[in-house]
Amino acid sequence: MIEINNIRKVFATPDGDVVALKNITLSIATGAMVALMGPSGSGKTTLLNIIGAMDTPTSGTVTLDGMHVETMQPEERATFRKRIGFVFQRFALIETASAYENMEFALRISGIDRDDWHRRILHALDIVDMSDHAHHRPGELSGGQQQRIAVARAICIEPKILIVDEPTANLDSQRGAAVLGLFRSYAANGTTIVMSTHDPTSEKYATDICRLRAGDIELFGPASSTIEGNRI
Ligand SMILES: Nc1ncnc2c1ncn2[C@@H]1O[C@H](COP(=O)(O)OP(=O)(O)OP(=O)(O)O)[C@@H](O)[C@H]1O
Ligand SMILES: [Mg+2]
Repeated sequence: MIEINNIRKVFATPDGDVVALKNITLSIATGAMVALMGPSGSGKTTLLNIIGAMDTPTSGTVTLDGMHVETMQPEERATFRKRIGFVFQRFALIETASAYENMEFALRISGIDRDDWHRRILHALDIVDMSDHAHHRPGELSGGQQQRIAVARAICIEPKILIVDEPTANLDSQRGAAVLGLFRSYAANGTTIVMSTHDPTSEKYATDICRLRAGDIELFGPASSTIEGNRI
C-alpha cells in the first residue's frame, strides 16, 4: 500500500517558484496498476519521483508499506529503493555499458545474489524480445529498443513497486500493448505499478486512473468506471 498525503512540491527556479504538485492525496493498493494521466507539465514525473523516493516533497508525507519515506535516513532510503523498479522517461541507461551490463548494474545495486544474475537477465531480455541485442550499447539501439531494455532492467530485479514513466512513448502499438499486458500480469502477481502515460490504451490495462491537471488531482478512480464515465 502506498499512501500519499497532502503532497506539495515546489521547485525554486531563477524565474521564481514553480508549484509542480499542489495538494495530492491518494492511496494505491498493493497489486494496483495506476495510470497517471494528464497534460505535459501537470506533475506526473514529479509525483513518480516522490513515490519512488527519488525526490522529497516540499510538504506532506508518503508511506510505503507503512514506512515513512521522508523520515528515512539516506541509507534506509537506498535500501528501500532496492525494492523499486524504475523505467525513466529518458531511460537513464548507462551509455558506455551494454544492455546486459546495464542490467547487471541494476541487479548489483539491488543486492541480488550474483549466481542469479544471468538467469534473470536472459529471462527479462526474452520477455521484452531483446535477446538478440544483449551486447549492444544504448547508442546502438533505437529509441523503442532502449525503452524495452529499460523495462527489462526494471523487471529483472523482481520489484515490489514498479514506477514507470511513459513506458510506451517510443513503442509501436503492438509492442506498447505487449508491455502494458506484461505490467498488468505483474500487478496480478502483487507488484504495485504506478505508470505515467499519454497513451489512451493504457486505460484498458490499468486497474485505476489518476488524472492530474496543473499539479492537482482532477480524477482518481477504478479504471473501468472511469472509462465508462469518459465515454458517455
Ligand atoms: N527540477 C525541476 N526544477 C524546476 N521545475 C521543475 C523541475 N521538475 C519539474 N519542474 C516543473 O514542474 C512541473 C511538472 O513537471 P513534470 O515533469 O512533473 O510534468 P509531467 O506531467 O511529467 O510532464 P510530461 O508529460 O511532459 O512528462 C512543470 O511545470 C515543470 O516545469
Ligand atoms: Mg514527465
